[in-house]
Amino acid sequence: MSEEKAILTIGDKRIELPVFVGTNGDKAVDVSKLYDDHHLITYDPALANTAICHSKITFIDGDAGILRYRGIPIEQFDTPSPNFVEVAWLLIFGTLPTHEELIDFRVRLTNNALLHEGLRQRIELLPPSAPPMASLSAALSEMVCYYKNYLTLDDDEQFIEAAARMISTIRTIAAYSYRRSQGLPIIYPDPKLRYVANFLHMMFSYPYLQYEITPEVEDAMNLILILHADHEQNCSTATVRVVGSAKANMFSSCASGVSALWGPLHGGANVKVMEMLEAIYKGGLTPEHCIEAAKDKTNPFRLFGFGHRVYKNYDPRAKILKASCDRVFSKLKHNDPLLDVARRLEELALADSYFADRKLYPNVDFYSGILLRAMGIPTNMFTVIFAIGRLPGWIAHWKEQHDVPTNRIMRPRQIYEGNEIVNYIPVKDRVRVGSIQ
Ligand code: SDX
Repeated sequence: MSEEKAILTIGDKRIELPVFVGTNGDKAVDVSKLYDDHHLITYDPALANTAICHSKITFIDGDAGILRYRGIPIEQFDTPSPNFVEVAWLLIFGTLPTHEELIDFRVRLTNNALLHEGLRQRIELLPPSAPPMASLSAALSEMVCYYKNYLTLDDDEQFIEAAARMISTIRTIAAYSYRRSQGLPIIYPDPKLRYVANFLHMMFSYPYLQYEITPEVEDAMNLILILHADHEQNCSTATVRVVGSAKANMFSSCASGVSALWGPLHGGANVKVMEMLEAIYKGGLTPEHCIEAAKDKTNPFRLFGFGHRVYKNYDPRAKILKASCDRVFSKLKHNDPLLDVARRLEELALADSYFADRKLYPNVDFYSGILLRAMGIPTNMFTVIFAIGRLPGWIAHWKEQHDVPTNRIMRPRQIYEGNEIVNYIPVKDRVRVGSIQ
């Protein structure tokens, strides 16, 4: 809390409000007692100006395009050595794991890779055409039916085991759902393989032919999962915190994050980006069409993969992913015309005052799909990959919320504008005047 105060005057009232100052100087006016002390509330429907918690996990400076996990700049993860498993540990436990901690966590992930047979059978009952995000949300919600000991996480050992169970199993659920959708036999996890290699093995191996993962693909998938691992109070993470504030178990809280992430304005945007790029490439649209449609207020079309609530500069993740596309494509001797389409679209948008004036730049979703496509991941699995990456962030925030000694259930207020008071009318006396509002 800083010495500085904020002054709110309303009518003849002059209200002094405390001010918090964050590590990097961000200031927040504390209105947490405003209703109790003054019967006043604030209005911020998209929570764009509202902090719902104190957090030490991730820092974003949207104007400068800065993203740091536990203080480490995201750019430092854009090298082959950091891997997703150690970044998951970093986000959840606050520091990079020692060699022993990393080995122990890896063993836990390996030991928790297999699905409970009951859950596997439940996935097999889903229609092969089920949307992968629906299958993922359902399976994560059902996990706690098979692992009831995770309903309450009373000690650190139980928590780390539950975290490992989720982080390991989400891959298996995703791969099984994909294989079912393709009419392929499921491939069980291989304990000899590391996290990403095992996922790709379960996605693409055959009973008679092991998927050969190249270092470039493994590095690229590691990087994609790392870049998606956390992003402070985004819609899905805030959802996990809201659900967790009611003391809901970690599995159900994270399953609620999957549902929020699925939205096309959030994690579902990576699918919409590819649909947009493919429409342009196949000739249905031109880049210029897209730009004009995105600017036309009478047109619901948005330039997916562009714009961000927090970044009013280039999303640092998009910068890294764009460079990674070049690296992976040249190493895999892969060519994708959609990359050229994306570059053309970016060039046009960044040169257009509509986007420049609104500080709309490419976000994490603009290039991620092109890279995933180069690895053979089908478009309808893109948001699932986002969820696999984001799970450690959801777990870290669930834990941070769970451990707040003063945690209170999150329950926003509203501005009521409905009927003042009306009487009940028996159905025999009711008539409809005009249409239902
Ligand atoms: C993710 O929060 C996170 O951290 C999310 C995320 C994470 O890691 O968790 O970073 C992941 O969700 C990235 C965003 C993926 N979504 C998309 O790419 C969908 C397209 N983008 C937009 O829908 C939009 O930019 C949002 C949803 C991302 C942000 O919306 P805001 O902050 O509510 O912005 P807004 O809608 O108020 O837009 C401000 C102006 C408006 O125009 P005006 O009313 O001022 O004239 O910018 C316009 C908007 O119409 N605008 C766009 C646009 N994005 C904003 N116009 C055309 N195309 C776009 N993409």
